[in-house]
Amino acid sequence: MSYQKETYVRIKAEFSKKYLEAQRRAQMRRAELHAQLPEVAELDRRLSMTGMEIMDALTSGGNTEAKLAEVKVRNEQLQRERAKILRANGYDENYSDVHYECEKCGDSGYLEHGMCDCMKRALTEAGYEASGLGGLIRTQSFENFSLDYYTSTVESRERIERSVLSLRRFAEQFEEDTYKNFLLVGGTGLGKTHLSTAMAKTIIDRGHDVLYVTALGMLGDFEAKRFGDGVGVRNDPMRYTDAQVLIIDDLGTEVNNQFTTACLYDVINHRINQRKTTVINTNLSVRDIEARYGERIASRILGEYVPILFEGKDVRRQKIFGKKK
Ligand SMILES: Nc1ncnc2c1ncn2[C@@H]1O[C@H](COP(=O)(O)OP(=O)(O)OP(=O)(O)O)[C@@H](O)[C@H]1O
Ligand SMILES: [Mg+2]
Ligand SMILES: [Zn+2]
Repeated sequence: MSYQKETYVRIKAEFSKKYLEAQRRAQMRRAELHAQLPEVAELDRRLSMTGMEIMDALTSGGNTEAKLAEVKVRNEQLQRERAKILRANGYDENYSDVHYECEKCGDSGYLEHGMCDCMKRALTEAGYEASGLGGLIRTQSFENFSLDYYTSTVESRERIERSVLSLRRFAEQFEEDTYKNFLLVGGTGLGKTHLSTAMAKTIIDRGHDVLYVTALGMLGDFEAKRFGDGVGVRNDPMRYTDAQVLIIDDLGTEVNNQFTTACLYDVINHRINQRKTTVINTNLSVRDIEARYGERIASRILGEYVPILFEGKDVRRQKIFGKKK
């Protein structure tokens, strides 16, 4: 089962639980009322016959309309009486109604024409949670990505503007079978992580599965799985090949060896073969990548990834010292 299906099944189970829990709590309140107020128990017994009375009216012949109207009047009268007793005893008249978390769908997660917003929200939240981005997903977006930090030359500003536009369009139009890889390259503090988080959020909001990880974290997971007892593994390494979109941040900051390089090759190669989108962020130039990881990795990145260059002055520093410095 794909990771997304697993999430969906889990959320559906949570909804069923919520629904049953709401029913159970209402039942308990009803039982409490019946224990406290025998008149209400009697009224509820009579109210519970309404269904049968309707059936009877529909099947016993004669003036169906008139009989139905009679049932309705009686029912309303019983309800009014019940409400009066509850109020007189200090209860809210809806005390034993079922109170759903979402009144729109009754915690079923579905409306007549598809999924309820509450279920969509739960799935999106689960997506954020599963992405590994933590708090970044709420603070780094396309909306708060400013071009004003890239003003050293007109060209550099225009270049970053085009890049942001194309990344944004890519994320906003992401579909099930969308496939494109990006290599975000440039010095520290220039917005690579910020922009990839913004992409992740947009793609998750569209209902897709995104996994964010640092190269250090990802390759550490492979090592822990292979050589360790698996304790502290962030993700099952399978997720790195299976995730619909994978973002590998800070490539080049990990300590690499033959094993980790083989794992990195495997992830990159697998994902290209399966046409699954990957975004890699790095301070390394393509030449550095070749020197560090070898030709097989470098040539795949060169051939299959769209390079996005980041130039300028460290935005972290600009935020502290001002844009002119
Ligand atoms: N264009 C921008 N507009 C607003 N905030 C920005 C912009 N670029 C970067 N930032 C902010 O500056 C900080 C550094 O950016 P970010 O982490 O994306 O840099 P980076 O390129 O990933 O750097 P590193 O190579 O060190 O990982 C973050 O807090 C980020 O939100
Ligand atoms: Mg970064
Ligand atoms: Zn709902």
